[in-house]
Amino acid sequence: MKIAVFGTGYVGLVAGVCFADAGNQVIGVDINEEKIRGLQDGRSPIFEPGLDELLKSTLKANRIEFTIDQRRAVKEAGIIFVAVGTPESEDGSADLSHVLKVVQEIAENMTEHKMIVLKSTVPVGTAEKVTSLVASLTKQPFDIVSNPEFLKEGTSIDDFLKPDRVIIGCTSELARNTMKKLYAPFVKNGNPVLFMKNKAAELSKYAANAFLATKISFINELALLCDAVGADVEEVKRGFTSDSRINSSFFYPGVGYGGSCFPKDVKALAQTGAENGVGMEVIRATDKVNDRQKCELIKKIKKHYSNLNGITLSIWGMSFKPRTDDVREAPSFVIIDALLKEGVKLRAYDPVAIPNGKKRYKNQVQWATSSYDALKDSDGLVVVTEWNEFRSPDFDQISALLKQKVIFDGRNIFDPAQIRSLGFNYYCLGREHA
Ligand SMILES: NC(=O)c1ccc[n+]([C@@H]2O[C@H](COP(=O)([O-])OP(=O)(O)OC[C@H]3O[C@@H](n4cnc5c(N)ncnc54)[C@H](O)[C@@H]3O)[C@@H](O)[C@H]2O)c1
Repeated sequence: MKIAVFGTGYVGLVAGVCFADAGNQVIGVDINEEKIRGLQDGRSPIFEPGLDELLKSTLKANRIEFTIDQRRAVKEAGIIFVAVGTPESEDGSADLSHVLKVVQEIAENMTEHKMIVLKSTVPVGTAEKVTSLVASLTKQPFDIVSNPEFLKEGTSIDDFLKPDRVIIGCTSELARNTMKKLYAPFVKNGNPVLFMKNKAAELSKYAANAFLATKISFINELALLCDAVGADVEEVKRGFTSDSRINSSFFYPGVGYGGSCFPKDVKALAQTGAENGVGMEVIRATDKVNDRQKCELIKKIKKHYSNLNGITLSIWGMSFKPRTDDVREAPSFVIIDALLKEGVKLRAYDPVAIPNGKKRYKNQVQWATSSYDALKDSDGLVVVTEWNEFRSPDFDQISALLKQKVIFDGRNIFDPAQIRSLGFNYYCLGREHA
């Protein structure tokens, strides 16, 4: 099949190379010329495990190409994916301007039937809106398919090649059959392709993200209570998740969720509720708890040092989660901003996200070349992202490098009893009494 993917970001690029890998002919389209030039040379603009290899192999096999020529892409492809960003607007709703611009471009240039597939995360009712827009601009036949994406940065290639499920919202038999055929190579393991109405497909995506975000806010609030009453959140978690109705995955206390999806999707769902007279109180609380949670570690840091002005702290981790260079809405930014404001000197290290961190902080932060380099002349370590390489460090080396043996663990990656037995002052979330 000949496919065009508009938007070559975290979702569009991964989808493009995976479709190409499955034997389709793919055109990746973007308005960012620099990105397109790099992709034409086989250079990925983002860090994502396995992406470079797949990009190079599909380019070599001539199954994928990259262009800024939107008109040509519309002309040549029968299936056109829209995978551009849907950022947060001022009122919290999803900003659809990029999506609608692409749709307009497609409608104005189509000279035959096109299948327009909305892969971006879009609010319920967008397919309907897009249908009216296309119909107002062309007499050509078309289908509007809602196909939200569930990949996770850090494991996105695997997630795309072996999805838990594929959700397709559509109304025609042609769309149903085409999507079924397109996704068949990815669901050979028997995982389902779920067909439904467009609105249900659109809402499924928000429901999934809002629920996952709620799990995080739930365990974070429980962790606060554990610290307050002297219980260990890990023991509590083991206790309540042994109930067969409660799935134990994705319950990790930490410095709050971030990234380009959960924060904006939770807000957008709340806004959809407001527009439709539904309070969405649970979702609003999830958002509120998350904002508060990002400040919990800062409180512990302030409490430990009588005066923060002039001390040096080491930051481990900048990306919003491990195995990605994405720093959008990263909790690290909230923590770094607060510490800089207090006059703290910072030495930061992240395995891949330093270039993105530098764009924001330039020389306000000293950039370290390794996790241990970040500890030199420092008064304490702050763990913000749970990269694997931080999980089992050499504590003797940490002791030797730090001026004060203090660790603030924003991801609960260390064993409190072990760390304290080594003479560290150890602060974490929900395990202060462990
Ligand atoms: N990042 C994730 O983990 C993830 C997961 C699932 C769903 N989503 C959703 O997928 C969508 C895309 O997210 P992303 O993280 O890939 O965004 P991104 O910002 O990484 O990429 C968007 C790309 O679209 C390009 N673009 C903007 N306007 C364009 C236009 N008119 N024509 C062509 N290209 C254009 C941008 O230059 C950019 O390269 C969002 O709706 C997001 O919520 C993201």
